[in-house]
Amino acid sequence: MRATLITGASGGIGEAFARRLAAEGHNLVLVARSEDKLHRLCDELMLQHKITAHYVAIDLIDYEADRRLYEETETHNLEIEWLINNAGFGSMGDFARLELENELEMISLNVMALVALTHRYVQKMRERKSGVIINVASTAGFQPVPFMATYAATKAFVRSFSEAVAEENRPFNITVTALCPGPTETNFFDAANIGTNVKDAFLKKGMQTPEAVVEAALGAIARGKPSVVSGWTNWLTARLGNFVPNSLITRAVSGVLRPRFEERKQIEGAKDTKEN
Ligand SMILES: NC(=O)c1ccc[n+]([C@@H]2O[C@H](COP(=O)([O-])OP(=O)(O)OC[C@H]3O[C@@H](n4cnc5c(N)ncnc54)[C@H](OP(=O)(O)O)[C@@H]3O)[C@@H](O)[C@H]2O)c1
Repeated sequence: MRATLITGASGGIGEAFARRLAAEGHNLVLVARSEDKLHRLCDELMLQHKITAHYVAIDLIDYEADRRLYEETETHNLEIEWLINNAGFGSMGDFARLELENELEMISLNVMALVALTHRYVQKMRERKSGVIINVASTAGFQPVPFMATYAATKAFVRSFSEAVAEENRPFNITVTALCPGPTETNFFDAANIGTNVKDAFLKKGMQTPEAVVEAALGAIARGKPSVVSGWTNWLTARLGNFVPNSLITRAVSGVLRPRFEERKQIEGAKDTKEN
């Protein structure tokens, strides 16, 4: 049976992809760690749209998780026609003070799992001479971002990797697209443990809905585009890097974020002193 595999489908942009594609008749394989949420979503979508929906509750950071996921889909004879590598998370703060383990786990999920799943599933797509791969990057991947150094670098990797793989697979009728959303209304900021005073700096720009991000992705797939920025204001911001040197951008971003992190450090410091 043909199916669409979506990682990070238990919420946010991944869940929006699942809802939209189920409505369009795709059978689904939903992947994330939260088994309850995946189970409920599968039941709801199967009932509502008369599709088949499987879920695999797995931590994609775990050793050989990509292999286990691939074998699971093979065992159930699921032909993955669309692969949406969406699972990811971010962190914010002064890199030297962030927890190293978390930064390395971010690279494992945002980069290594995405590369591994692309490599595994693109083989069969080549044999069938058809397929779609959407890799979720970010507008943060268009320039270095101080206080989001690792996250922005992972997303720069996803953009570069996806656009190159898109070209390699063009003769095989496989569309690969790097989807670059800007700030989007999901659990992302809470999962990244970003303080509200820092979050506000992003919110001022205005947020997109996950549904709008999915719409942009599907438009790009229909046109065979290797990369898409969701939303025209995000597009303009992302293109700034073509005209302004990175050193100026990093100074400007740092000018906004550094005082907010200093303020946050002071708030946390005051809390610690009170508790001790
Ligand atoms: N929201 C934004 O402003 C924004 C902007 C640009 C790009 N993005 C990108 O969009 C993608 C989706 O994020 P989102 O905004 O929808 O955030 P979200 O609501 O936090 O969703 C993240 C998804 O990834 C899953 N996930 C996290 N860690 C995982 C792990 N170790 N193994 C398997 N699944 C894992 C989460 O499910 P479980 O917790 O159940 O595992 C969840 O389904 C990410 O790649 C993010 O970098 C987001």
